[in-house]
Amino acid sequence: MEKKRIATLSFNDGTPQIELPIMSGTLGPDVIDIRNLAKTGMFTYDPGFLSTASCSSSITYIDGDAGHLYYRGYPIEQLAEKSSYLEVCYLLLNGELPSEADSEKFEREIKRRTMVHDQLMSFYKGFRRDAHPMAVMVGVVGALSAFYHDSLDISNPEHREVSALRLIAKVPTIAAMCYKYNIGHPFMYPNNKLGYVENFLYMMFATPCEEYAANPRIVKALERIFILHADHEQNASTSTVRLAGSSGANPFACTSAGIAALWGPAHGGANEAVLKMLDEIGDVSQIPKFVARAKDKKDSFRLMGFGHRVYKNMDPRARVMRETCYEVLAELGLQNDKLFEMAMELERVALQDEYFIERKLYPNVDFYSGIVLKALNVPLNMFTVIFAIARTIGWISQWNEMISDTERKIGRPRQLYRGPVKRDYRPSRERE
Ligand code: CMC
Repeated sequence: MEKKRIATLSFNDGTPQIELPIMSGTLGPDVIDIRNLAKTGMFTYDPGFLSTASCSSSITYIDGDAGHLYYRGYPIEQLAEKSSYLEVCYLLLNGELPSEADSEKFEREIKRRTMVHDQLMSFYKGFRRDAHPMAVMVGVVGALSAFYHDSLDISNPEHREVSALRLIAKVPTIAAMCYKYNIGHPFMYPNNKLGYVENFLYMMFATPCEEYAANPRIVKALERIFILHADHEQNASTSTVRLAGSSGANPFACTSAGIAALWGPAHGGANEAVLKMLDEIGDVSQIPKFVARAKDKKDSFRLMGFGHRVYKNMDPRARVMRETCYEVLAELGLQNDKLFEMAMELERVALQDEYFIERKLYPNVDFYSGIVLKALNVPLNMFTVIFAIARTIGWISQWNEMISDTERKIGRPRQLYRGPVKRDYRPSRERE
């Protein structure tokens, strides 16, 4: 029998030492189980969770040093090349790739839920037309909780499944409606004859006045973006979904919390920020100036689309997206477009610069996905919304895994308090 590994924590102030078991997963670094530590009256301090595994999970594995990403054990490169987004959704949610029959059934179950309640449509009128679509997404996805009282018992696996299907099916419809509302066009109902990604493009770009057929290469590029963004283990938005869900909140409310966390420019908002940055740079000749600013510690400017908390090697999603980026630019004849030339030059300069090499700051997936979405004519303020559509399956799969986990506890981190010590209240006339 394998010997149990133990870490011993000792103190130099007479506090008795404490033994902490070491746990191993199927892949990746071992973790020290610190649950016993609280008995000493002490806690660990780890802002940003740089050294903390917040849960155990069987969904997604990342090796940031080697640049590997697996969904349920399958390398992302294989899924991006051979699979479809809905197949990946099934895999993330259920743990295995579907058989043909399972696949057909899953697609049918999604398709019959793509429409949204008519009453939900009137929610949009409460928003300003120029509201950021992510703001509308937070509100409308959260509002789904108000429509599905029949499936909100989170302890019932069938309810959880129906909620997952509803979210996968309805989020693209809600997202396309955000765009239509923004530009003042009528909403387009889903067309269930189309595939999942094509249907989203249809709801975004079709109008009731004309026939619309999406370019198959655009469908393929967007499908790839969806697959690459489907899950990414315990990132900020997923951890938000888990934390919100740990209290027993319903999956629609938790997904809305995930969308809010995704919006930030350090996370999913980066794809939009990349394009804004390129716009600000303005010309290839200005790149050295902006790279110098990114390296200047006194300047808060960072190169958007570069760096990653976990990947200290090329992000494998970025490698696949880079390929797609070049394919799409060639297909659409955009290689010589000023903006894309600037992006490619920035990539070249940063990859050769000592500052970026030393800190292992490679272009990340959002650098390339931002460029691809721009080439596909997706409006800038919809970039992060597209990330949110793709990530919905990751959030709901992780939420479902957490709810099924017998070790689940409400998430309740502690703190190192640095505020005033106890003091007594004094009336205002006695305060100086
Ligand atoms: N430009 C310039 N310097 C950078 C950048 C950047 N984009 N990213 C990190 N650094 C520097 C940082 O200043 C620090 O330098 P030093 O060691 O001299 O103090 C060092 O690299 C480490 O940075 P950090 O902020 O401690 O790293 P982190 O793991 O906390 O942050 C990050 C990761 C992704 C938030 C950060 O790299 C960043 O802000 N990147 C730009 C935003 C971006 O592209 N985000 C999308 C991430 S991928 C999509 C997703 O998964 O959501």
